[in-house]
Amino acid sequence: MNYRHAYHAGNFADVVKHVLLIELVTQLQNKDKGLALIDAYAGRGIYNLGSEQARKTAEADSGVTKLLSAPLTDAPEAVEKYAALLAACRAQHGQKTYPGSPWFMLEASREQDQVQAFEKHPEEHSYLHYLFEGVNRVGVHQRDAWEGIGAMTPPPTKRGLVFIDPPFESEHRDFTALVERVTAAHKRWSTGVYALWYPIKNTEAHVLFEKKMRRTGIANLLLVELGAYPKDSPMGLSGTGLVVINPPWKFSDAADKIVQYLKPRLEAIPGQGYASVRWLKSDG
Ligand SMILES: C[S@@+](CC[C@H](N)C(=O)[O-])C[C@H]1O[C@@H](n2cnc3c(N)ncnc32)[C@H](O)[C@@H]1O
Repeated sequence: MNYRHAYHAGNFADVVKHVLLIELVTQLQNKDKGLALIDAYAGRGIYNLGSEQARKTAEADSGVTKLLSAPLTDAPEAVEKYAALLAACRAQHGQKTYPGSPWFMLEASREQDQVQAFEKHPEEHSYLHYLFEGVNRVGVHQRDAWEGIGAMTPPPTKRGLVFIDPPFESEHRDFTALVERVTAAHKRWSTGVYALWYPIKNTEAHVLFEKKMRRTGIANLLLVELGAYPKDSPMGLSGTGLVVINPPWKFSDAADKIVQYLKPRLEAIPGQGYASVRWLKSDG
């Protein structure tokens, strides 16, 4: 539990992850019925990009700050919505803030939707708890992500999303655990939408992860990736990925437009990054 998202808030991976999260929540709203939205590794909800931790890595400089340094001409709707929500957050909490996934999840949701956020770290949890105090359709729980997923799925509404954004403190261990746990969660609630974030660091771990995901027997698996650096760059984090299980039917097209739009705006050297959307398994 050494991980602190304050060092990474607003980096290129956060931008891609949060835009895709907004797109998913929006697409799930095609019916009036309320949604159960679960953020299993929620973080503290709002970060200060002027903090010592954020300045130490300056990761937001090549993420959200870089994205907003040029006009967002002809942006996909989810990118526009992301920028508008970010501006609203900054107007309310200060120009140096950056909101996290539970904040975007809540802001992109409707009155009839319920948000449940799990955060295990006591300090991160108390920030989040304070941020959402009095918002009656949000539950903030200090609990383990998988214990919470087990307790709260399948939700009574039967429609919803589980967003899984682990810290990956030990890359190999977390990939293995992630596949096992998501397989168990999917067995319990097979029609739920699951979005799992994963880092793209070394190709070996990444290829193994795909192989393991393919072997789970889960039918609808979409991979969305964006590399800020070419594959196999000796970078800590060269790319960002999201596996989406049971994506809404228009999600793959929208995700493709999003990553193609963001790639030239977030890649480190023009033309050297990559963006892709592909089915790992599809039953359609
Ligand atoms: C990558 S950060 C989350 C960032 C957040 N999803 C966002 O996009 O703004 C991972 C978070 O998970 C928390 N965490 C670590 N282990 C956990 C566990 N077993 N259950 C729940 N939360 C955990 C960490 O304290 C950290 O705040």
